Amino acid sequence: PGHSHWSYEDLQHWGVGHPDCKRTMQSPINIDTSKTIFSPQLRPIQLSGYSLPANEKLKLRNNGHTVVLELPKSLAITGGYAQQYQAVQLHLHWGSPRGPGSEHTVNGHRFAAEIHVVHYNTKYESFQQAMVNPDGLAVLGAFLEVGPRENLYYQEILEHLQDIQREGEEVLVSGFNIAGLLPENLKLYFHYNGSLTTPPCYESVKWTVFNQTMLLSHNQMSMLEMSLRNDDNKALQNNYRPVQNLNGRQVLASFQTTLLLTKQLPAGNDNSAEEGHSSSSFHAGDVLAVLFGVLFAVTALAFLLYIYKHRSQNARLDSPTKLKVIYTAATTENTV
Ligand SMILES: *[C@@H]1O[C@H](CO)[C@@H](O)[C@H](O)[C@H]1NC(C)=O
Ligand SMILES: *[C@@H]1O[C@H](CO)[C@@H](O)[C@H](O)[C@H]1NC(C)=O
Ligand SMILES: [Zn+2]
Repeated sequence: PGHSHWSYEDLQHWGVGHPDCKRTMQSPINIDTSKTIFSPQLRPIQLSGYSLPANEKLKLRNNGHTVVLELPKSLAITGGYAQQYQAVQLHLHWGSPRGPGSEHTVNGHRFAAEIHVVHYNTKYESFQQAMVNPDGLAVLGAFLEVGPRENLYYQEILEHLQDIQREGEEVLVSGFNIAGLLPENLKLYFHYNGSLTTPPCYESVKWTVFNQTMLLSHNQMSMLEMSLRNDDNKALQNNYRPVQNLNGRQVLASFQTTLLLTKQLPAGNDNSAEEGHSSSSFHAGDVLAVLFGVLFAVTALAFLLYIYKHRSQNARLDSPTKLKVIYTAATTENTV
């Protein structure tokens, strides 16, 4: 149902039935951080309504190309974009045990997987109307990498994949905090104008790609890569489109990508190592190192001040004592 006959083996021919796939502002792209433009006016992305109660059930579906989680319209982007966007669905792109499968790349590096949270501009009546307009869609993208721990938020999705192995199958999933699927740090991101990365490839997406990555356990990444089957009943793997030509487009960055300054930014990112959220890229260790450095300097300074004060105090006491001693010694000698 609603399944058009395109596949990732057939990438070169997407343009035949879907002419927009051959246009000049296509996605995904490689993000070259030496060429991004620092834009301080890019404010932190703000999400609202993302925390869902467990009694709210969401549809999770294998559509033959990916796994899609339908999202209620209470979820919205309320900051970071000039207009209001409400959520429609989220889905993932991945590789196989033999190689990574993110869609965007950063400095030529492909990450293990990528999440896309799709929103549409509320000034349009529906997602279908929004998707054909240049400012119609906002997609939040984040990279997934293998880390040491199980990610509890991703587990809410991954544990159901075994129930939707075949194309068209769906299952209901209990609500949870959807924001947990995205990085904690929503201040650091790249922004550019692009397209849907699957047919019909409409050039209607204002992309946000976060700089912080999400961590899943090795076992979880395997579940993502091994659980689903496509319409040919073959393993659903490597469901990513190759990077497209920039054709003169600019990629903006909300932060300075090249200077040392980027190392200082995470000071505002309090809980990058917080349990459960499992995101990386910047480390609390860096902040701690600076903190201990400052503490050491303050302690050393206090110690030096103490010594200095003590010495001048002794100097003041010294002279009369010495005089007294000399005086006493003299009188003793005289008496004897
Ligand atoms: C995206 O397109 C809009 C409308 O053409 C333009 O105003 C904006 O500057 C573009 N953004 C970037 C990052 O190039
Ligand atoms: C994040 O930004 C840093 C600094 O420019 C860069 O080295 C790194 O590759 C970026 N990572 C991602 C996932 O964007
Ligand atoms: Zn996608």
